[in-house]
Amino acid sequence: MGPTDPLWSGRIQGEMAEAMVPLNRSLAVDIRLWPQDIRGSQAWARALVKAGVLEDEEGTTLVDGLDRVATRLSESDHSDEADEDIHSLVERLLYEEVGEVAGKLHTGRSRNDQVATDFRLWGMDAAERLVRILGEVESALLDWATQSVEIILPGYTHLQQGQPIRAAHWILSHFWPLERDRAALRAVRDQAGVLPLGSGAIAGCPFPIDRELLRAHLGFLRISENSIDAVSDRDWALEFAFATARVGVHLSRLAEDLVLFGSKEFGFVRLSDGFSTGSSLMPQKRNPDVAELVRGKSGRLTGNLVSLLTVLKGLPTGYNRDLQEDKGVLFDSMDTLTIVLPAIEGAIRGAEFQTDHIEAALDPQLLATDLADYLVRTGVPFRKAHEVVATIVRRAEDQGIPVDQLSLEVFQEAYSGLDSDVFQVFDWERSVEAREALGGTARKAVLDQIMAAQTRL
Ligand code: ARG
Repeated sequence: MGPTDPLWSGRIQGEMAEAMVPLNRSLAVDIRLWPQDIRGSQAWARALVKAGVLEDEEGTTLVDGLDRVATRLSESDHSDEADEDIHSLVERLLYEEVGEVAGKLHTGRSRNDQVATDFRLWGMDAAERLVRILGEVESALLDWATQSVEIILPGYTHLQQGQPIRAAHWILSHFWPLERDRAALRAVRDQAGVLPLGSGAIAGCPFPIDRELLRAHLGFLRISENSIDAVSDRDWALEFAFATARVGVHLSRLAEDLVLFGSKEFGFVRLSDGFSTGSSLMPQKRNPDVAELVRGKSGRLTGNLVSLLTVLKGLPTGYNRDLQEDKGVLFDSMDTLTIVLPAIEGAIRGAEFQTDHIEAALDPQLLATDLADYLVRTGVPFRKAHEVVATIVRRAEDQGIPVDQLSLEVFQEAYSGLDSDVFQVFDWERSVEAREALGGTARKAVLDQIMAAQTRL
């Protein structure tokens, strides 16, 4: 076996077909697993010593040699080397460092349990990093909400004005979905935390390897129960792809709100210059590209989930080479969020409400429900109150005036029991303050919500 021959060159004679080489190689993608591959290999060398397979001295030589390999890998880019994948590359560099004894490292191990181990180590770390940076986005939302309790916005359903809400309440409606995502990502971290090493290619390890020691060395939470399942289980990766896709979906909804609210037609929110772009043609443009790109990137995240589901579907038992496709999609989801999350965080931190536009947009029809509730409090059944208010709103539309500008006579025509007290209803503050029940938009409920959100962070 020569220095760059494949790990299986004893079995397959002759050169690999030229057309097979790029299909077979995954080094450019899995090179980023080198720290995990080194760690896993060092733990394996120690386990082989403990099992009596290697002499103490051989174990030390391998561990030290792997340290030197790590130094070389950290100092220069090796992704263009001819090696098939990161495992082959590390093994070849180890030969260069320590000679023949390098050939003992792979005893009792297969690339099948090796790659599953490396990938899970990466996944645990990646999920944890996402939990952290997602927390930063949530904290930006929370800060913005804290500053926006006194602003009242039209609240929309079906993108039609529904009822007035506090701006902070709207902002926090984007906090909680991300908070659920953070919990999902913590769960993903735990799901990734199952040690496959010691499963071999499929049937398990024929040497007395202490898997508990491996688990502890590598920081896994549990040990896989079935070697066949261990080498092909990518459920944690699916959960990762799903959790990140859901982050994308949530951010795309926030982004869509920012696009809409930043338009001239709404004009509620202004993004800072650092997160806006101009047009090469239209001099007046101020485009919310940050929000559009975040919304667009969610497509990749969703696509990656579908890709992985499709790769896994219908695979026969055990390891199959199709599984090599698992890494690119997860790396892409991770890279996408690594770019997206700080950008959306910055956009939120620089966003400002434009209260004059908001006030102009508040249509007194937003208080129609409050008017019905007012009637209910005088003893009118809600269904009847609904009908009365609908008539009043229609009259305002017929006359082409805001509903609070109608004369008392018009109100009384719709319902004779009304007197001039009815005009108290047309007060934004009164409307939001009425909704004090937990989770509502009254100041107290919103302040409680802010406290709850702070506790979560
Ligand atoms: N590059 C491979 C992967 O990512 C490593 C495992 C290869 N195993 C094998 N039996 N060819 O899945």
